[in-house]
Order: sequence, then C-alpha cells, then structure tokens
Amino acid sequence: MESFQIAVYPGDGIGVEVAEAALQVLDKVQAGEDGFKLNYTRFPWGADYCLEHGKPAPENYLEILSHFDAVFLGALGDPKRVPDHIALEPLISMRQKFDQYACVRPAKLFPGVRTPLADKKCGDIDMVVVRENSEGEYVNNGGRFREGTPEEFAVQTGIHTRKGIERILRFGFNLATQRTKRLAMITKSNAQRYSFVLWDEILEEMKDEFPDIEVTKNHIDAAVMNFVRWPERFDVVVGSNLFGDILTDLSGILIGGLGLAPSANINPERKFPSMFEPVHGSAPDIAGQGIANPTAAILSAALMLDWLGFPDSAEEIRGAVERTLSAGQKTPDLGGNLSTQAYTDKVLEALEKSA
Ligand code: NAD
Ligand code: IPM
Ligand code: MN
Repeated sequence: MESFQIAVYPGDGIGVEVAEAALQVLDKVQAGEDGFKLNYTRFPWGADYCLEHGKPAPENYLEILSHFDAVFLGALGDPKRVPDHIALEPLISMRQKFDQYACVRPAKLFPGVRTPLADKKCGDIDMVVVRENSEGEYVNNGGRFREGTPEEFAVQTGIHTRKGIERILRFGFNLATQRTKRLAMITKSNAQRYSFVLWDEILEEMKDEFPDIEVTKNHIDAAVMNFVRWPERFDVVVGSNLFGDILTDLSGILIGGLGLAPSANINPERKFPSMFEPVHGSAPDIAGQGIANPTAAILSAALMLDWLGFPDSAEEIRGAVERTLSAGQKTPDLGGNLSTQAYTDKVLEALEKSA
C-alpha cells in the first residue's frame, strides 16, 4: 500500500474547524480503499504560537515541511491579536519558497446551491482560476522611506518574469486542453505598460502552440464585470497573483460562498511539497461557533488526492458533496441549519452509500 506523509497546519479560527472536518472525510475514503494511507502530522502554528514565541511558526518551519508529501492548511489569521502581515507570512513564504507557482482554484456551482446571480443555474458556472502564485504583486520588494515625516512614502514593486509568465500560461493552456478548451488571460495592460504588456506578448507567442484553444483577454476591470454577467463564458482563467486573489473571492461568492471554494498550490515539478487549502480565511466573525462550512476544505482535500494520484477517491468526495448539497443539507452560510460536524456527518454518510 502506498503511504504519504501529510503535514496538517490547521492555523487559526475556522481553519482549525474545517481542517478537522476534511480529515474525517479523508479517513473515510482511505478506509474504503486499499490503495493508500495518509499519515498526518499536526503543527499547532498560528496566532497562539505567535503570541508565545514572537513568530507565527518556528524559524525552520520550511525545512520541517519540506520533508512531507503535501501540506494541508486550514487558514491563518487572527487580526485582533496579531497583525495580518505577520500572521500570514508563512502562507506566502510556503507558496514562494516551495515554488508552488500554480494556484488552482476551481469554482463550480453545485446543484441545490443558490448563486447570487439571477437567472444563472448549475452548469452555467464551472471555471478554474489559475493564479500565478510565486511572484507578481506578492514579492516582498520595496521599502518605507522618510518614516515619521510628512514626506513618508512606500514603494512596492511587482516582479513579473518571462519564466514566471511562461510557466503559468503553459499550465493554464494544458489545463484548458483537458477541459472545454477556452482560456481567458486577465491583465491590466492598458495601464501597467511594462509588466502586463509582457504578459500580452508571451500569450501571443505561446498561443500558436495550442491552436485548438480559444484564447480571450480581459482587463481586470472588465473581467470582474464579465464574471458577473457572463460567468458561463469562462473556463480556464489565468491571472497574476493579485488579480487571481481578487477573482477567486468573486468566483467563490458566485458559486454560493467562500465556504465552497477549494484551492491547490501546486509545485508541478514535485521538487517541493504542494499545499492544499480553502480559498477562504479564518473567518473571525464566525470562528468558535461550530458553524463554518467545511466544504471548501473537503474539496481541497479532494484536490490533494488528485495530486497524490487518486483521482477516483477525489471524485468520490466530490460526488458525496454534490449529493449532500443537492439533498438540501447545508450549513448556515448557505441558508441551512447544520453545524460543521452535522454537515460533515452527512457527507460521510453520502460516502458510505457510494462505497
Ligand atoms: P474570510 O475568508 O475569513 O471571511 C470572509 C467572509 O466569508 C466572512 O463573513 C466569513 O464568515 C465568510 N466565510 C469564509 N469562510 C467561510 C466558511 N467556510 N463557512 C462560512 N462562512 C465563511 O476573509 P476575511 O474576513 O477577510 O479574513 C479573515 C482573516 O483570514 C484575516 O486574518 C485574513 O488575512 C485571513 N485570510 C487567510 C487566508 C488563508 O489562510 N488562506 C485567506 C483569506 C484571508
Ligand atoms: C488567499 C488569501 C491570501 C492571499 C492572503 C491571506 C495573504 O487571500 O489565499 O486568497 O492574498 O493570497
Ligand atoms: Mn484571497
């Protein structure tokens, strides 16, 4: 039997609650399969750790995590106790230091779930945002100057490399080949004339390699409008780090809420562990109440199984989630009244039935 070492990093707030739910689901699919075994090691890093030790994770946390096959993360952030730019540092560092350059964020409207868009139904929203995850607007490049004076200023420079753009576009094209063969690239090249004009040029160079893919381009302002009025026109959507971040809160709410939106931070070369986490954060507004929707975490666990080479088990999870939601079993964010655990139990039952 194949076994895998999984680093579980529940983090803060509802991150802890939804990660626990997802592990129950993973345990269930493993029990029904003799193909694989996941061994979990939990790391209690987050705001509590930070208050005790002055940093959100131990100095050598990347070295520790580098030995695992994958990292499963809940969510980080406890902004009332620790400033976000400190608490979230490990998340961004993992993505960059482990070269998890492809952030894959599917957004599919499940039957039985209401989208806030009038007249859109299941089947109309089924896209994957591929977010450049290693550079762009998220590089730690800049500084604060003349601090404490009226002339104070801050500089923060985005870095968009040819290598970085080429590899994320190629990843997007390959994904589009396996889906409905449509790729939309999102930039702001009408205003950001260096970085995003480079994106435009590289797209032009590359698209001839993929003649059967229909390619469109949107500036980010038009893209957010078009996500709302024509979500059915989008399949694979490729964007820079910041634009991908913004677009995936939007695609998340379009499919019914962030509680449903999973994500994978992939190092395609498998040189480093990849990381799986919901798109959402630690939701301090509902943390500790036991009402968080664990679906995003559960579907992120399914993405992890895809990555580890068990797509049938991943499909089983997605099927169980779909049947649970379409039977009207929901947490409060979707208008239901199930607790996190009660909803997870329904997904486990649905898995049982499919076994
Ligand atoms: P958030 O995603 O935590 O919450 C936004 C809204 O969505 C809230 O109203 C919340 O209740 C709701 N929501 C999110 N997930 C839900 C779920 N599973 N079930 C039900 N409702 C859910 O975003 P925020 O409030 O802007 O950020 C809170 C903290 O999380 C901050 O510290 C932020 O920096 C951090 N954050 C972390 C991550 C991450 O770890 N990947 C991602 C985003 C935000
Ligand atoms: C996300 C989050 C993070 C990001 C934050 C918490 C740094 O919003 O994963 O979408 O911007 O990447
Ligand atoms: Mn985000």
